[in-house]
Amino acid sequence: MTRVLFVCLGNICRSPSAQAVFEARLKERGLQQQFVVDSAGTGGYHEGEPPDRRASAAARKRGYDLSSQRARAVRDSDFNEFDLVLAMDNSNLQNLLARAPVTAHDKIRLFMSYAPELAQEVPDPYFGGDDGFEQVLDMLEAAADALLDQQVRR
Ligand code: 4NP
Repeated sequence: MTRVLFVCLGNICRSPSAQAVFEARLKERGLQQQFVVDSAGTGGYHEGEPPDRRASAAARKRGYDLSSQRARAVRDSDFNEFDLVLAMDNSNLQNLLARAPVTAHDKIRLFMSYAPELAQEVPDPYFGGDDGFEQVLDMLEAAADALLDQQVRR
């Protein structure tokens, strides 16, 4: 069993989308039983809220359903409970590294490190236009495929 936590700032745009994309890829490959997947935000301002409408709409157009997700903040226990803690951008990464025990640092990395040819970070789409949400999904799909390719080869 591999436990994967996707992390962004608010847990209403990027990391819920990453969770849904990754879960869809797991289902396509028949691997759901081998993974536990969740998402969280380094900030708690949107705790308990459903994902952003724009993120939900962009995801729905590609067949991903975010409707059952609710935002939560990262908890200290996450660093024990997950095998991989995947940050969307460098700010999320630095926040996680600053609060995690040093023994957990090797499980914390940028999600785009699996698809470095595309981007280094998944940029925050919150204050931008609709095309930002499409770009986010393009990046998440590439990184999800690359992560699964790597996991399956191990
Ligand atoms: P996320 O996007 O980190 O991808 O969920 C954001 C959501 C909310 C805010 C910033 C980014 N905010 O400032 O409220």
